[in-house]
Amino acid sequence: MNKSTRPKPAGMRSVDEITSSRRLRRMRKASWSRRMVQENRLTVDDLIWPIFLTDGENRREQVEAMPGVFRLSVDQAVREAERAAKLGIPAIATFPQIDLARKDIEGSHILDPENLINRASRAIKSAVPEIGIITDGALDPFTSHGHDGILRDGTIVNDETVEQVAAAAVIQAAAGSDIIAPSDMMDGRIGAVRDALDANGFQDVAIMSYATKFASAFYGPYRDAIGTLGLLKGDKKTYYLDHANSDEAVREAEQDLLEGADMLMVKPGMPYLDIIWRLKQEFSVPTFAYQVSGEYAMIKAAEANGWIDGEKAMMESLLAFKRAGCDGILTYFAPTVAEILNG
Ligand code: PBG
Repeated sequence: MNKSTRPKPAGMRSVDEITSSRRLRRMRKASWSRRMVQENRLTVDDLIWPIFLTDGENRREQVEAMPGVFRLSVDQAVREAERAAKLGIPAIATFPQIDLARKDIEGSHILDPENLINRASRAIKSAVPEIGIITDGALDPFTSHGHDGILRDGTIVNDETVEQVAAAAVIQAAAGSDIIAPSDMMDGRIGAVRDALDANGFQDVAIMSYATKFASAFYGPYRDAIGTLGLLKGDKKTYYLDHANSDEAVREAEQDLLEGADMLMVKPGMPYLDIIWRLKQEFSVPTFAYQVSGEYAMIKAAEANGWIDGEKAMMESLLAFKRAGCDGILTYFAPTVAEILNG
């Protein structure tokens, strides 16, 4: 360290006296020494890639607020799944844009074995058996009002929705889904899905609970992507968590684990690193974050304006999840990051 010859303000001790010669910059001095003491690392194994599905063939529609993200017809989704598997990404998560004509207040098309989610799972499973498939059991892509549950007299009814979600899970498992990830936040859904899967011979199908899903402004671009933005009346505050709460998030996670969840997820991601940390400390179970559409859009928009280095911000945001305790991250950046990590 270079010793200063400059006159010190009266009473100021030397830096050695202040730090007792404990200098934390010592190991930051070179790339090799920084790499040597690096505590957390992002690998391709940490990535789960959420993709959007749409009807038709050979279609790739750009999602407006998510540059580089497309709605894919099933054949294109299969191609992307192949690409993901080659990159070493362990799993993909599918989200469908359902034709308006098929939506109703109960989201009944979710029970159709031939719906977009199930067709995609079958096609991907047969073409790319080495990649994990995660499907969402929530009703929102299928309801005419964009809510995650069945709407009766202005209320999202819990128990009836849970029956529908559990029935959908069995159909999704039969179509090839490896992990059911119900994102609807109804009480009792994890236990119901577990019972339904087990009763139908799907003991090996896992459950990733969207255990702590917060009522959030960061889902906007996703709702545009799957076509629920214009439909949704009101908000989801009667079932998603209040974003002011952290103890309640722990109780939600505990409940889902007691009901049989194999993994927990926190959603959105970056504004909720404290929740990830708490859950990992409390339960020591596989814990995931969903870096949601709004988080992706913010990084992309700032990059497009030349306001931040998009690639560095992307990598930093993902490593932050690892530092907070995540075992993996659902991120729209997955293939881009995998390409970078694979060199
Ligand atoms: C709804 C669902 C949401 C997302 C995935 N499934 C939130 C919502 O529409 O309320 C958000 C994903 C994202 O923003 O990337 N079950």
